[in-house]
Amino acid sequence: MTVNRRFTLVRRPKGVPVPEDFRLIEEPTASLEEGQFLLRNHYASLDPAIRGWMDDTPSYLPPIRLGDPVRATTVGVVAESRNPAFPVGSWASGLNGIEEYSLCTAAGFTSPVDPAAVPSITNYLSAVGAIGLTAYFALLEVGNPQPGQTVLVSGAAGAVGSLVGQIAKMKGCRTVGIAGGPTKCERLIRDYGYDAAIDYRGKSGRELASAIRAAAPDGVDVQFENVGGEILDAGLLALNPKARVVLCGLISQYNSAPLPSYNLWQLIVQGARIEGFILTQYIPRFGEAIPELAAWVKAGKLRVDEHIDEGIDQALPAFLRLFEGTNEGKMILKIAP
Ligand SMILES: NC(=O)c1ccc[n+]([C@@H]2O[C@H](COP(=O)([O-])OP(=O)(O)OC[C@H]3O[C@@H](n4cnc5c(N)ncnc54)[C@H](OP(=O)(O)O)[C@@H]3O)[C@@H](O)[C@H]2O)c1
Repeated sequence: MTVNRRFTLVRRPKGVPVPEDFRLIEEPTASLEEGQFLLRNHYASLDPAIRGWMDDTPSYLPPIRLGDPVRATTVGVVAESRNPAFPVGSWASGLNGIEEYSLCTAAGFTSPVDPAAVPSITNYLSAVGAIGLTAYFALLEVGNPQPGQTVLVSGAAGAVGSLVGQIAKMKGCRTVGIAGGPTKCERLIRDYGYDAAIDYRGKSGRELASAIRAAAPDGVDVQFENVGGEILDAGLLALNPKARVVLCGLISQYNSAPLPSYNLWQLIVQGARIEGFILTQYIPRFGEAIPELAAWVKAGKLRVDEHIDEGIDQALPAFLRLFEGTNEGKMILKIAP
């Protein structure tokens, strides 16, 4: 019998999640039926979206059921198998849970991954996983940046934002990043090639808007929004005619009530477009992007920073880093010792 430690949701959080919302339990792993395999999770991806799945509200995925492990994409090694497509010892990644072992079926969302195709297996949770795919499709398909245009990115030092800035540079754009604090702003320029960086902390909406205008004197053609609230609103004031606003995330309101937006009139005045992006709608096209993202990473053209905290008992503090802004790169939890 193998013991499985699982980080389960036992109460729906109100606002910022607290320890009482979760319980770390130990259970024996189930015996396998034909077609199933047991994945020994080595790493789990901690994503802001997980906070939404904890609520009992309709979304693109059903809410996490109380008593179930917190849903997360994991990468791991097949420990037991009754499925020839997933032999014991092979690597696989998919939407599972924050738990030491996940029981997977071929019909689930877990696919084999090739460790040789990437510098680090964790890249399947960052640049070559949902994060990279989000940056790639949301920027290139929804944002449609053209050479010489200006791309404004919020949450720019984070997992998605750091990749968006670099891909926009590859496409010949001028890039302006918004992040929290001087250290992150230095990294925007030094590590991710941003042309200009804006520290939003301590700035009113009005100050933010003038900082954006100063950093983007020719206006903004693509606003890549990860944060929402005052940051989204300030960016709208700098839009050029026919600009595209890519609504990728609104992390500033995941733990609070929705914030109003006062400057939507800019979309009318500029004949601009705002469009939501959800990665699941691009699943049939993942095969187009994964080889290109992997090649960029391997060639050193795309810098990937990963912030790895260790231990399933650290799941909550590691997750909360996303909302405190203390993650330096893609937030990942190492589960296997
Ligand atoms: N639509 C999709 O399919 C899809 C897929 C993946 C991710 N996303 C979205 O992409 C965004 C970024 O996700 P990620 O995984 O790359 O996370 P991340 O950017 O690596 O981490 C979150 C960052 O957000 C910033 N932040 C948190 N609370 C904030 C607040 N109240 N105001 C301003 N900034 C705040 C912090 O950076 P600072 O220190 O700079 O404040 C923090 O480090 C999220 O909104 C996420 O939901 C969407």
